[in-house]
Amino acid sequence: MAFNVRKFFYKYAKWLGATVLTTFFIQILISISLFPTVNDNLLKKFGHTSLERHEFGDVSARKIINGYSDDEDIHTKTSSQTKSTPHLRIEELDFKPACDIKSREAVSAIHRAKTQSCKQEIVNKTCLIQNGNFYPTKLPNKCPSNGMTYGKYYGCYLDEKKLRILSSFYGNYATTNSPEFCVDICMQAGFPYAGVQYASECFCGDVIPPESAKTMEGSCNMKCPGNSTKICGGYFTMNIYETGLTKFVPITPKLSSNVKESVRIVFLLTLNGRALRQVHRLINVLYRSHHYFYIHVDKRQDYMHRKLSALEKKFQNVRLAPNRYATIWGGASLLKMLLSSMKDFMSLGWQWDYVINLSESDFPIKSLEDLETFLSVNKGLNFVKSHGREVQRFIKKQGLDKTFIECETHMWRVGERKLPQGIIIDGGSDWIALSPEFVSYVVGKHDELLSGLHVIFQHTLLPAESFFHTVLRNSIFCNTYVDNNLHVTNWKRKLGCKCQYKHVVDWCGCSPNDFRTEDWPRIQNTLNRQLFFARKFEPVINQEVITRVEQLIGLTDHYHIHNLEGYWQIIYDIEDLPASTDDTLLSHAGSILRQNAKILLQEDCTIELGEVHEINLYKYADVYKGNLILYKALIENEHEVFIETWYKPKHYLEINSKSQYSDIVKIFKVSSDYDQKEMTFRNFGSILGPLSEPSLVYQFSLIEKLTENLTVILLDPAGIIAEVNTIYKEENNLTNFIKFNVKTPLLPGVWKVTLLEQNYVPIAMTKFLVTPLEYFSGKEMSHQETSLIHSGSSNSYKNYSQIKDIDLLPSKKDSLLLQDLAFSNIKRIGHDLREWIDSLNVVFYDILGSCLSGDNFKDKLICGKNKFRDCVSTDWSSLSPDPKGTIGKLNLRTGRLERI
Ligand SMILES: *[C@@H]1O[C@H](CO)[C@@H](O)[C@H](O)[C@H]1NC(C)=O
Ligand SMILES: *[C@@H]1O[C@H](CO)[C@@H](O)[C@H](O)[C@H]1NC(C)=O
Ligand SMILES: *[C@@H]1O[C@H](CO)[C@@H](O)[C@H](O)[C@H]1NC(C)=O
Ligand SMILES: *[C@@H]1O[C@H](CO)[C@@H](O)[C@H](O)[C@H]1NC(C)=O
Ligand SMILES: *[C@@H]1O[C@H](CO)[C@@H](O)[C@H](O)[C@H]1NC(C)=O
Ligand SMILES: *[C@@H]1O[C@H](CO)[C@@H](O)[C@H](O)[C@H]1NC(C)=O
Repeated sequence: MAFNVRKFFYKYAKWLGATVLTTFFIQILISISLFPTVNDNLLKKFGHTSLERHEFGDVSARKIINGYSDDEDIHTKTSSQTKSTPHLRIEELDFKPACDIKSREAVSAIHRAKTQSCKQEIVNKTCLIQNGNFYPTKLPNKCPSNGMTYGKYYGCYLDEKKLRILSSFYGNYATTNSPEFCVDICMQAGFPYAGVQYASECFCGDVIPPESAKTMEGSCNMKCPGNSTKICGGYFTMNIYETGLTKFVPITPKLSSNVKESVRIVFLLTLNGRALRQVHRLINVLYRSHHYFYIHVDKRQDYMHRKLSALEKKFQNVRLAPNRYATIWGGASLLKMLLSSMKDFMSLGWQWDYVINLSESDFPIKSLEDLETFLSVNKGLNFVKSHGREVQRFIKKQGLDKTFIECETHMWRVGERKLPQGIIIDGGSDWIALSPEFVSYVVGKHDELLSGLHVIFQHTLLPAESFFHTVLRNSIFCNTYVDNNLHVTNWKRKLGCKCQYKHVVDWCGCSPNDFRTEDWPRIQNTLNRQLFFARKFEPVINQEVITRVEQLIGLTDHYHIHNLEGYWQIIYDIEDLPASTDDTLLSHAGSILRQNAKILLQEDCTIELGEVHEINLYKYADVYKGNLILYKALIENEHEVFIETWYKPKHYLEINSKSQYSDIVKIFKVSSDYDQKEMTFRNFGSILGPLSEPSLVYQFSLIEKLTENLTVILLDPAGIIAEVNTIYKEENNLTNFIKFNVKTPLLPGVWKVTLLEQNYVPIAMTKFLVTPLEYFSGKEMSHQETSLIHSGSSNSYKNYSQIKDIDLLPSKKDSLLLQDLAFSNIKRIGHDLREWIDSLNVVFYDILGSCLSGDNFKDKLICGKNKFRDCVSTDWSSLSPDPKGTIGKLNLRTGRLERI
């Protein structure tokens, strides 16, 4: 009967077996060794909130970012280098630093980095930067200058307070201003003219003032703060210089033309996560045999890669990137990945006119024909969207004036830097459509400009948001620049700017929200504009809006589509690389299946359980309907079949009608992986184990009734208070969450969370299950392991003995009993352990049904008194037809699902 799980192997599992550990050790082991693995895997499973690339879109985002200063130490205090630089603790390094590190941020990064090789990389680069041997100080601008000359002097001009003669930019530089300084600033921002005034002021402009504004040289009479041998204008007088640039006018693309030429597009898909069915849907909408699909799947996303590999064999115009990168939000690796992908498909001999990059969360909002028409009349142009604001501000907010070093899948901020003279800095949107000529230049042999920009952008936060823009503006391709946002992004700053990437980047970034049905007007508003794609779409959050978009762009076959509102997303696949969250998931799944087998046995149907092949989460009409476990089984001792079992978590919420606040609680629920931006748990099934990190989400209404602070008490399965939190009257008007701080391992069993009035009258109570584990690192648990994993962490709870005599606490007698029970549970292994696991899971999950699949099984649907349904004709089954994403529209009508 035992579950046949692949033998996962972890080095600490082996180590565990050989070592006797004290409780103290347990804490360290769990917090250091297990957490990284657990977290990585959760991300892999439940989406990609922290892995994905992101954009700062426009500058208004950044205003908000700076407001989020809970990151004070690593984000906002950047100018304090001059204050005491903390000493580098050399004793923590196994190498000798090549120099005396002066940057405070670098010292902090070196200390925070975990591996010696990462520390050394930071030290090495910081030393080179400190000695001025790293970044280029000047780079060439190859954009034709039409006779304009860097630094050419025009004369002294009279300025007016009301009508500035150079009006595009103004900056005040009390210590650094000089003609050179100001010319560089204006050049960086792409302006042809620069003017210095009143010593410290620098102005930039697009047009030279009329000759009549010129005045006597002597009227410009103030010394420059940055160079006392130079003059920096005077009182409303300005020395004006050329920067060497001509006025920048982006190209306006044509909208249509009478001649319809054909256009061939390379869709460069950079994919992450597990939304395979959505990726199929996206490719389906964009698929034509004359277009190309070059697909880069994140190195960690093995499932997606395995499943998409099949496409390469089926379709000649689909190619998967052989060099895979693990990219992080804002990381330098994102640019490396894009360039490597471009270089690779350039070598394939494809004949194409445009490359457009997209991710799994992008979707077209115009028909492919509209896009083709638009691009066909604009061949040779390059579409990038500029931030459209003031360049110095853009540089600051985007962190372009800081050095970032990527290692240990983290972007470490190590200090300030000076961008090179002589080039324009540009950047902005996350979306590009590039011509083959330009791509060929960018990935071709590096000239001085490209080599220099590579060094800079390999050490830049969010490099892909500026690199292509900057190359374009400074290369001979500058006159193919279209500043046109063909992409619409669903920004909701309040939700999207929560500094949610702190763990991967020393910076606070924003990220757009998923479109939901209620955002529909936003998409409708783009109808008459040259916008062809939108982001983000995530069917696990909202699928209806995607269906609507398909209707909008002319895919009207929807009435014929079976299961249009169903959505399945894989959370476990048998071929996944082993990871420790699987221990929780598989322990839980095994228990559900035993529960199901017992139910079948009541109908005289005996089944023997085999390997679990897949676990999917299932949503219908955007409502979570439970999980589906697909597994091998032997029916009545002879027929080997696949069974899929559908089950759903039960949610417990008790409201105390005697409380004055009984009517305010709308949501009060515990799970893990809370996504603040989408305000939803990514762990839909609330499957929690001893190593999970649970959070409570609550939503109140009628908030005006509340006149006091409320208390939340977390009680462990032994009836001991593990944590007490306060919900402040002032803050609780909307949905909010509390991430519990209890140390892992959590004591397995039933935990209770109670919301109380100030006088400890309960308002609401919920309970959640921390399932004991049957497996550790994929193997059945040994005594030693259970004594580590199942013993809880009550010794690290705070002392809450002042809270007593409240009803929710067990009596002294019960309390002792519960503690004894918890203690004896630690010793349970094998069959005994499974019984314990089952007795708990049966309380928290309901089995809803099973269906059967396999070769030649049609006559075996009857088992005892039970009649199985055939999975293919069972709507909820992950094996039932789901033609939404059938590539090439081949089977849109027959509705036959091709599992690719
Ligand atoms: C750092 O520099 C030292 C000395 O030049 C070199 O041996 C080492 O490989 C470099 N390490 C890294 C990680 O860059
Ligand atoms: C000041 O300007 C002069 C003349 O261009 C130049 O030689 C000198 O290096 C400048 N000094 C500084 C501190 O930039
Ligand atoms: C597409 O390219 C732009 C510009 O390089 C970049 O900012 C963005 O992250 C890319 N998007 C995807 C989905 O790869
Ligand atoms: C809630 O707690 C805060 C902080 O302890 C306190 O300042 C405030 O007065 C309390 N509010 C009420 C209504 O008791
Ligand atoms: C929450 O309260 C703040 C301040 O009292 C208010 O500005 C905000 O609109 C409220 N939010 C909601 C969702 O009610
Ligand atoms: C908890 O604190 C109380 C006093 O508040 C003290 O009497 C008791 O010994 C403490 N318990 C533990 C286990 O430290």
